[in-house]
Amino acid sequence: MKLSPLQRGLLGLVALSTLLAGHLAVGQDQSFDLSEVSQHNSAESCWVVVEKRVYDLTRYLPQHNRYGVSLLEFCGQDATEAWNTKGEANRPHSRRAQAVLRQHLKGPLSSPPAKLDP
Ligand code: HEM
Repeated sequence: MKLSPLQRGLLGLVALSTLLAGHLAVGQDQSFDLSEVSQHNSAESCWVVVEKRVYDLTRYLPQHNRYGVSLLEFCGQDATEAWNTKGEANRPHSRRAQAVLRQHLKGPLSSPPAKLDP
């Protein structure tokens, strides 16, 4: 089938807008639940939860080793308490660390379904 330049242009436009819409939906407010997070529990794919948000730390993981703490054990877990206390150090991370964390945000943790009354 031979398409006219106008038809080809229109097709391209439709393809492009579909791609863009998909991309925006992912970047906006796709949420993730704990069972999905728990599958990303290795250095190959490391997601953590901090304060009800999901972060993909896979690329960041090796960088934290310089502080003498491996984040591997937190992969697939809720690391909120450890993040807030730096474990044994018992003090919060700096604002710079918060900015680093933000760079790895995937999206909100989906809230668990509300409990039904018995
Ligand atoms: C969740 C993602 C994390 C990011 C992006 C991150 C980032 C950082 C950064 C940038 C520093 C340098 C010091 C500062 O700026 O505060 C740092 C230090 C440190 N982090 Fe993390 N961190 C994370 C998670 C954790 C967790 C879960 C622990 C739990 C034990 C931890 C323990 C420490 C310790 C012990 C230090 C060094 C001691 C200090 O500087 O006070 N971090 N982290």
